[in-house]
Parts: sequence; C-alpha cells; structure tokens
Amino acid sequence: MLVKVVVLTGAGISAESGLATFRDADGLWQGHHVDNVATPEAFHRDPATVHRFYDDRRRELRAVAPNAAHLALARLEQVLGDELLVVTQNVDDLHERAGSRRVVHMHGELLSALCDSCQGRFAWDDDLGDGPACPGCGNDTLRPDVVWFGEMPYDLDLIERALVRSDLFVAIGTSGAVYPAAGFVRMATRAGAKTLELNLDSSETSHLFDDARQGPAGKLVPEWVADVQALSR
Ligand code: APR
Repeated sequence: MLVKVVVLTGAGISAESGLATFRDADGLWQGHHVDNVATPEAFHRDPATVHRFYDDRRRELRAVAPNAAHLALARLEQVLGDELLVVTQNVDDLHERAGSRRVVHMHGELLSALCDSCQGRFAWDDDLGDGPACPGCGNDTLRPDVVWFGEMPYDLDLIERALVRSDLFVAIGTSGAVYPAAGFVRMATRAGAKTLELNLDSSETSHLFDDARQGPAGKLVPEWVADVQALSR
C-alpha cells in the first residue's frame, strides 16, 4: 500500500548535525537581527554584513554531515519513490547529501548564487563577499540565493499541488512561526490528509496536527520511517 507523503522540514532536522536553528535559545536570530541580514532592504543598505552572515554559514556547512533523520528520509524515498516529496525550509544541502533526490528548497539554497542583474542562478560554494563577477552577465551583483523576508518562496505551485493530493503530511523540526510553510498543515487537512508533527518541543501549530510527537528528530524520524516501511511491506 503506497501513500502519497509530503514531508516539510525546518531547521530542527539539521540541529543534530551541528547547525543552529533560528528561534531556539542559541538560534541565529538571537545573535543577528532579521532586519540586518535577511531582507532585501538590508542587502541594499549593507551588503557586506549580509554577505558575511551567509559566507560564514556556507563555510560552516562544509564542516557538518547529514544525521540519522536525513538518512531515514532518504531510505523512505527508496520505498515510496515518486510518492514522497520533501519540502524543506532549510538552505543547507544535508537532505541531498543523505541521498534524497525529491527535495524542494522553498527558501533557496546556500550553495547557490542569484544575480540581481540577469536573475541567473549558479551553483556556488565560495564566498560572495568579495563581489565575484556573475558567470552569466559579468556584473558584480551576485547575492545569496536565499528567500528573504518579504520575498516570495520558490515552487509554491508545485508544493500546493503535492499537498492537495497527499494522504499524509508530516512536519519535522519547524516552529510553525513562518508562513506560508506554517499554513501547509491546514491545506493538507482540508485535502483530507492525515497530519503528523515530529518536533523537539510543541510548536505554534502542534494543535493543528492529528498526531504530534515530541523528541529529537534523530530518534523520532528513523522510528516513524521504520513504521512506514513495515506498513509498505
Ligand atoms: N529535533 C527536532 N526538532 C528540533 C530539534 C531537534 N533536534 N532541535 C530544535 N528543534 C525544533 C525546535 O523546537 C523548533 O520548534 O525545531 C524548530 C526550529 O524552529 P525555527 O528555529 O523557528 O526554524 P524554522 O521553523 O525552520 O524557521 C522557519 O524562518 O527564519 C526563517 O527562513 C527561515 O526557514 C526559516 C523559517
């Protein structure tokens, strides 16, 4: 019995790999103000500070590895194939490094650069702070390919199509503080899907889920995937 599953992940799934979340006690938004590093206005006002923030995170990413939760989702893709879609709010590449192929980065990617002049997008794993020339148009107008507050997330049509045809929606490691992602549980519920939350603590949307389990993703996700695998045999 194959079910259509949409999995939404947030910063919590990468916490056990050593990457900071945003809103936890030691989160990124404790050390940086959103208005200084995560808005288009901040980038035009002070690009050096914005570049330093993302260049540091890009370098940090090289030093970490996928954890048991990422690896379990990659195993689940082996079982469910095209019936599984991972929608991530994360800009890290840990899902792909774990082996997942069907991943949508709705908030962009650290390992990608976007040109403010030609709108070209380029795989990028180096600093952007030195103002490198755009491989497409040659201008020094490359920015991190990350969706900032006030900007439209990527692939919303594709995500909504998957949600309305889903049988099961699972949210992992997200606080439910940011829309449109925090609204996906309602969209899935309206479409008749079952909903499950796997999170360290209760989130702003836990009450909207049919089942909400608390604990570290590195433990809860492999357990849940083993259950699905057992059901799919
Ligand atoms: N396992 C499971 N959940 C965890 C773990 C863990 N090991 N560690 C933390 N969490 C949970 C926290 O309890 C919290 O609910 O992960 C959630 C992280 O929440 P946020 O820091 O708000 O991150 P996220 O929900 O991904 O943020 C959404 O906001 O800042 C913007 O664009 C940014 O994509 C981001 C969006």
